[in-house]
Amino acid sequence: MSQTVLRGVNIVSGYGKLQVINGIDIHVNENELVTIIGPNGSGKSTLIKTMIGLVKMFSGQVFLRDHDVSHLQPHEIIRTGIPLGYVPQLANVFPSLTVEENMKMGFYTKKWDADYSKNIDKMVALFPILGERMDQKASLLSGGERQMLALARALMPEPDMLILDEPTAAIQPNIAEEMLQLIVTLKKELGIAILLVEQRARRSLELSDRGYVLVTGEVAATGPASELLAEDKIRKLYLGVRDRNENNT
Ligand SMILES: Nc1ncnc2c1ncn2[C@@H]1O[C@H](COP(=O)(O)OP(=O)(O)O)[C@@H](O)[C@H]1O
Ligand SMILES: [Mg+2]
Repeated sequence: MSQTVLRGVNIVSGYGKLQVINGIDIHVNENELVTIIGPNGSGKSTLIKTMIGLVKMFSGQVFLRDHDVSHLQPHEIIRTGIPLGYVPQLANVFPSLTVEENMKMGFYTKKWDADYSKNIDKMVALFPILGERMDQKASLLSGGERQMLALARALMPEPDMLILDEPTAAIQPNIAEEMLQLIVTLKKELGIAILLVEQRARRSLELSDRGYVLVTGEVAATGPASELLAEDKIRKLYLGVRDRNENNT
């Protein structure tokens, strides 16, 4: 039976006095691709940031495998020794470092003197576009290439779990499809559990095992992705219109 890698139980969180997440249960199992969809401002980014200690949790619990990581800071979560990759919405790379140096920055959970070259080789194989540009400054990359570099950096410590916040936002449609395909490959070939927030709701559900629909900080629907895709109400409300606004926060 597959184990749960990340679990949030009755999460309530927000900013100062503003409550944004109103009691959410969510989990991601080993080797599962789980997508969160929902309108802009529904709390998708806030939910995932809460689970990794970037937003204050008012109440609830978060488990990373067997570790209770509720209320831990990100650096304390790293100390559990379970590598977790996170690529924020509008991923940043270090513009004045080269592509290879950016990747190396992601090797933080390993010993500083450990040999990272094997992992670099893996990234070159996964991202041939980056492989050709290892010595160039990251500032020279296109938006899509930067997003790939942020993803490669997150993969360097060989994470058990990857959390991606709108990795296809603000990149061209053909590159977006390539990115989604790559995410499926990561799940299949590396066996990583992936939690994906996506505006390309229909497409990402088509590629996912399960999904959550978030509305005003609550789970409006959840289940196998195929069931969500087949449900009339969800199709009309959340899958009809695609990618109108790619600049949400
Ligand atoms: N740093 C912040 N301070 C205060 N309110 C915020 C902050 N970030 C997001 N919010 C608010 O929280 C709500 C959910 O935002 P967010 O989680 O970014 O939604 P989504 O990712 O689904 O678009 C919105 O009303 C937004 O204005
Ligand atoms: Mg967001």
